[in-house]
Amino acid sequence: MDFAMLEILLPCFLLFCSWRLLKARSLSTRDEGFPTVVSVIPWVGAALGLAQDSFNFMHKCWGKYGGGYKIPIQSGNIAIFCSEEGMKDVFRDKTRSFNAGAGHRIGIRLIGGVDMDLQGVHLYDKDLGPVISRAFLTTNGLDLIVPTYGMKLFEFLSNLSNDLGDSNRMFNLTTLMGQSLYKNASVAVFGDHFPDNTFDDFMHLDENFSRLMIPIPFYSRSALQARNRLLQSIQSYVRSVWTGSQVEGAPRFASELITALKGTDLSDKDQAGLLLAFMWGMHANTIRVAGFLFIHLLSDHQAFTKVREEIDSILKSSYADDVKTFLETPYSSVPRDEFPLLDSAVKETLRLSVLLSNLREAQREVEVDYGTGKRARVRKGDLVLLNMGSYFRDEAVCSDADNFRFDRFVSGENTPALSAFGGGAHMCKGRLVAVHEIKVLFILFTRFFEMSLVDEKGAPLREKLPPPETRSTAVSRPSDKIHIRLRRKPSKSTRSIVQGP
Ligand code: HEM
Repeated sequence: MDFAMLEILLPCFLLFCSWRLLKARSLSTRDEGFPTVVSVIPWVGAALGLAQDSFNFMHKCWGKYGGGYKIPIQSGNIAIFCSEEGMKDVFRDKTRSFNAGAGHRIGIRLIGGVDMDLQGVHLYDKDLGPVISRAFLTTNGLDLIVPTYGMKLFEFLSNLSNDLGDSNRMFNLTTLMGQSLYKNASVAVFGDHFPDNTFDDFMHLDENFSRLMIPIPFYSRSALQARNRLLQSIQSYVRSVWTGSQVEGAPRFASELITALKGTDLSDKDQAGLLLAFMWGMHANTIRVAGFLFIHLLSDHQAFTKVREEIDSILKSSYADDVKTFLETPYSSVPRDEFPLLDSAVKETLRLSVLLSNLREAQREVEVDYGTGKRARVRKGDLVLLNMGSYFRDEAVCSDADNFRFDRFVSGENTPALSAFGGGAHMCKGRLVAVHEIKVLFILFTRFFEMSLVDEKGAPLREKLPPPETRSTAVSRPSDKIHIRLRRKPSKSTRSIVQGP
């Protein structure tokens, strides 16, 4: 393009931008109806903001537009709600207008590498959804998974503790949480044949999730390679356990899940892709939330002491101070509120880490009531996203909203009305097991180790913690700079645990 041409185009472009800015301002000050986010460069501006850091982009929009607004994208709109009324309306979905398959489809494509249309995703939900609910939302199902997870984790930490001996060592926090949860929960769910050497590839895929959204080969190459290796390992796992009519050497859940997959007309590779997408749903968020629980409690000495005292006292009074008896107790026999302070700390951690709901697509034109006198018209084909993170950080929802208050949920006052696991028919199916996994993890770490947070060089991390990573996923991720230093606990009770019964 020659210089003369540029002289003509540049003022035109600047004029156009000024007009968009004026329009944006007039819309943003409009206080009735459903405001639209207007970017200086139509579509591209908002799309870039969303792709770069979706949560922070939406959080800023919340400050500017309030509890409901829409973002125009090339193919339509994304309607965003973050008021209690708007989120409840969408979660409850009384008119059955929203299809959650839109979000599942993206997850299955990016993580599992399987391209399915909405109908295919619906069939997947219909076949696999009930199997997942039976395993993770019923006490019968959980009784089969939870004690194995506890005992495997015990063994894993016992070995780690023995390896440490009298020295201390630092670990990357997210990696340690990942190893503890991924390996032991996977074996509890998929049996001893589960290839736990897939851990590094799993973490690499999760860390690079946002890269998979940008289809530039060299940018996403290493994540795609990790995905291919994972798919190969899962395929050989399935081949080794599938007898032709059932799954050998694995708990009932794995057998039912793989039998349901075998009943579809998907290729072996795509079946492995669906399993991988499920595994990602099962572990990625749990690992992140577990990391944040350690960060919050280890940086608040008073909170940590109170939670640890509660753990010690309940293990002593209800399990004769024998942590193994606690771990072996079936899920159905453990009262849900057995560790009230720890439970509250987990809920408070969830409140501060969950950012976004699953993506939904409007099946027909529908009105969403998102506040007193505020109704938004969502058109057929528009996408809908619930910005849970901004709701949970709203001072009108709970005071001192930006700060971690470990005992917030004990009193039950000043707590949000909505759960961090969503609501309605698509509420998280793993919510019971996720909370249990994280609680058992924390209990065992406090029994085995003295712990402190340090940076990459081993210097203590106290007040100034690196901020969480909030880009492109539904739950924020602890900064990779945060490490944890472990020292084997010198107390008598721990030594007896380390040596086993
Ligand atoms: C702390 C860890 C976890 C968090 C924060 C979390 C959060 C969520 C959220 C926010 C949703 C979307 C709800 C909606 O949009 O309506 C969801 C959906 C889902 N989660 Fe979780 N989750 C966690 C762990 C798990 C685990 C361990 C499993 C499996 C064992 C699991 C399985 C699922 C499934 C299958 C769905 C889709 C439900 C549906 O659409 O019907 N999640 N989760």
